[in-house]
Amino acid sequence: MSGGSARAGERRPRVLLAVCGGIAAYKACEVLRGLQKAGCEVRVTMTADAERFVGAASFEALSGSAVATSLYGNPGSPIPHIELAEWADAAVVVPATANVMAKMACGIADDCLTTTLLACWGCCPVLVAPGMNVHMWQSPATQANVARLRERGVRFSGPDSGRLACGDVGEGKLAAVDEIVAAALALLSPRDLAGLRVLVNAGPTHEAIDPVRYIANRSTGKMGYALAEAAARRGAEVTLVSGPTALATPAGVTRVDVESAAQMHDAMVAAFEGADAAICSAAVADYTPAAPADHKLKKSREHLDCVPLTETADILADLCERKGERVVVGFAAETNDLLAHATEKLRRKGADLIVANDVSRPESTFGADTNRVALVSAAGVEQLETMPLADVADAILDRVAALC
Ligand code: CTP
Repeated sequence: MSGGSARAGERRPRVLLAVCGGIAAYKACEVLRGLQKAGCEVRVTMTADAERFVGAASFEALSGSAVATSLYGNPGSPIPHIELAEWADAAVVVPATANVMAKMACGIADDCLTTTLLACWGCCPVLVAPGMNVHMWQSPATQANVARLRERGVRFSGPDSGRLACGDVGEGKLAAVDEIVAAALALLSPRDLAGLRVLVNAGPTHEAIDPVRYIANRSTGKMGYALAEAAARRGAEVTLVSGPTALATPAGVTRVDVESAAQMHDAMVAAFEGADAAICSAAVADYTPAAPADHKLKKSREHLDCVPLTETADILADLCERKGERVVVGFAAETNDLLAHATEKLRRKGADLIVANDVSRPESTFGADTNRVALVSAAGVEQLETMPLADVADAILDRVAALC
């Protein structure tokens, strides 16, 4: 979106600004102005603590709209939290305190701001710009809440490192206003995948040895879930075939749960019938026990030291065989000779694109919230920077959109 005001009659992007009680609350006024300059319509909700730092009158004057501070006593709006969540195209929390992030992570809705943010699920994407003391930011409780929110698709801007209001130096400083505004604008993605049916698989598979034991791998499914979330946010109709993971289903996504490679194969082949594009990000087991036992094997008597394996069907290769004009993307998770292996997979499997990542590096390994990938196609190799998974997902989907 370019800066400046929208053309007459054009609906401007709508941003809900959620202001919490931190010393950086005054910066939320600048974020509001920055969003307006970029052409957005902004409405504000704030906590009672935020009002101790900056009065609602300031935000009212700047936004030109009433500020939602309470769920009650709003004459024209008996359910302000639902109205605001459904009104917004994106929500931005500035400055996000440890307390509000903890409430968001747990689904606690005990005031107008947190109730509205809870109602944003399935309505609009949420950006969080934390601002707090370094110890509060680094506490395991806050970090666990951040990880939980990221897993659910909440985006983060900052915090930065530097001198904090309390005099401490370290991480916890609110990100620069321009950065927060840019991150908020990035959330207002166009619905450029509307009308497209995208199929994604994610996670590991579990291959049963007996009713108790199985063979699996280190995949968490985070990359695939980020792809499904981003595709849905951009307007696609998304089916996610998921191996066993601990992740929440992204808003608006149809999820099919499977356990084994064989089940994932059948679910993917069936769903591919009605898909325009498929992205195979799952870490499918290459081998499965040839004859899983129907009872728990006893270690000394039943040859647990030698489990005969048989090769699984290659889902990606099978989809490529039936794809016709449709687009199929695969992944190559490697520890060495990344580009050589990825290029060989592109050719051998017949995919349109292989997303290659080096799982021996901390920023692109299993379970990381970032990834550093190379996009390998017939057009060549494009190496991307290390980015949050949501941004990697968008970059991959840009390629899918161009190919469809
Ligand atoms: N894949 C698949 N079905 C399988 C194995 C892999 O669809 N049975 C897909 C993965 O989802 C990924 C791509 O193939 O998109 C590459 O997977 P990978 O395990 O890296 O490649 P393999 O073909 O199994 O080769 P190798 O393990 O030797 O690297």
